[in-house]
Amino acid sequence: MKEKILDKFAEIFGDNEGAKAYFAPGRVNLIGEHTDYNGGHVFPCALTIGTYGVARKRTDNKLRFYSMNFEKLGVIESSLDDLKPEKEAEWTNYPKGVIWAFGEKGMQVPCGMDLLLNGNIPNGSGLSSSASVEVLTGFILKDFFGFDVSNQDLALIGQYAENNFNQVNCGIMDQFAIAMGKKDQAIFLDTATLEYEYAPIRLQNSKIVIACSNKKRGLGDSKYNERRSECETALEELKQAVTIESLGELDEETFEKVKGVIESEVRMRRAKHAVYENRRTIRAVKALSDNDVEQFGKLMNESHVSLRDDYEVTGIELDTLVEEAWKVDGVIGSRMTGAGFGGCTVSIVKDEAIDTFIEQVGKVYEKKIGYAADFYVVEIGDGPCVL
Ligand code: GLA
Repeated sequence: MKEKILDKFAEIFGDNEGAKAYFAPGRVNLIGEHTDYNGGHVFPCALTIGTYGVARKRTDNKLRFYSMNFEKLGVIESSLDDLKPEKEAEWTNYPKGVIWAFGEKGMQVPCGMDLLLNGNIPNGSGLSSSASVEVLTGFILKDFFGFDVSNQDLALIGQYAENNFNQVNCGIMDQFAIAMGKKDQAIFLDTATLEYEYAPIRLQNSKIVIACSNKKRGLGDSKYNERRSECETALEELKQAVTIESLGELDEETFEKVKGVIESEVRMRRAKHAVYENRRTIRAVKALSDNDVEQFGKLMNESHVSLRDDYEVTGIELDTLVEEAWKVDGVIGSRMTGAGFGGCTVSIVKDEAIDTFIEQVGKVYEKKIGYAADFYVVEIGDGPCVL
């Protein structure tokens, strides 16, 4: 891959003298969905698929971007003197946002650059291709200009850019999972404090299989922000009954006792998901450390049911993939992953059942939905690196 992207860089930008190649992963969340903006726990891991990039400093203030995933767009130009989000700037709003965010944090990028990307995360699949580009950009800026930032800072800067430049109100999970990724480990992160622990993923003759629904979505046009504000309102209502700063502070028993103060049935279900999913995540990580993969799988299934019925972020595509997966012998657990409304599911499948899983789920999905799903047997990889 390194050679391929360096060659392409030379083709697009004249030569590749002084250019450097980098990688940042994508991520999948194993459990703990829609908890990160509710002060709860998440349990994601970085993948060995992700975004490859080649970058080179310029002597002027120009920024020139090219993506092998969007070749038709050609080279998209911008300048350090004019960093603002623009619809025509397409995907380059992500790297631009990060360059802007460094400036906002007092780290002015001193010169322009040429940047070529080539990602092997399916776009819009909910495996965080945008967060991957953000962390990659931050990592390049750190490497080029020696900014004193940790990988955790790169996650926070990426999220800051996404929230304030690209106006997507996401939580910290995606950028954190990518920036802090570790081979064969998932990250148990408390989003209220940013305390985290690595947990080895020992799946005992099973693998993580991702099914991509191929229903495109973007957080901007989904009901993501609506769910956030429903949870915020529910939290304000709950504060009349209990002293908390976030839904993540509640356990199930307390929630059941005080939930009556939430005035709408819909908001009650949203808050219920946030509270129960957080507790489920804590229990799931414990099950895994006890080597109880079956229990982990059961909790993944419960997570999906809650996201389907209480949080209502699944839809026919994700429900079909998951409900068909549950029927296959050798599937330990299956659920939607990421924001929902399209995107992917994550399943833990016994090695000998993987082929049947892909065939059976794929067949029913195509028949019912009218187009095919894609399947990926994935591995857990490290965070960003120089290639
Ligand atoms: C998206 C957001 C994350 C998180 C998930 C849902 O991936 O970017 O911050 O909220 O949705 O768990």
